[in-house]
Amino acid sequence: MALLRIPDEHRSLSDVAAIADYLSARGIAYERWTPEGLAPGAPADDVLAAYAPKIDELKKIGGYVTADVIDVDAGTPGLDGMLARFSSEHWHDEDEVRLIVEGRGLFHVHPPNDPVFAIEVEAGDLIRVPKGTHHWFDLCVDRRIRAIRLFQATSGWTPHYTHSGVDQGFQPVCFGPAYFAPTLG
Ligand SMILES: [Fe+2]
Repeated sequence: MALLRIPDEHRSLSDVAAIADYLSARGIAYERWTPEGLAPGAPADDVLAAYAPKIDELKKIGGYVTADVIDVDAGTPGLDGMLARFSSEHWHDEDEVRLIVEGRGLFHVHPPNDPVFAIEVEAGDLIRVPKGTHHWFDLCVDRRIRAIRLFQATSGWTPHYTHSGVDQGFQPVCFGPAYFAPTLG
């Protein structure tokens, strides 16, 4: 389940309804959705089939036309270059829609009139970040994510960078199950 942190306000949210409300007030849709009977590591076509009811619903709501499965881990060739494209503040000309199937990731979002917040997503989380929203993305230390992406067009999903440097002020640190606080002494 997701964890939302607002570093400037020294507070965090872990309750699903509270997270959904906070995000909704900033134009971002969030919900939990898990398919039945999908085995870990199932082929991409099986993943898309298992999520078909939710994908079809989202296509109707948001005008998305295609879906694919992105699947990376620490051994993925070119992973650092791939991640570097998205780890500084940017926006897109279309929505960023992710249904997390396995692994975890960390979105930072920079609303125009609110402090930056971090939303840590994991399996079962569905997030829709509207086009034009300033954000950036990192993997967690385990560098593993498998997610369904939905697109409104087959082209045009290029990051536009703000070059604001805001992202430099926030540590890409996750606090989920793979995080262990250092012991004292
Ligand atoms: Fe993005």
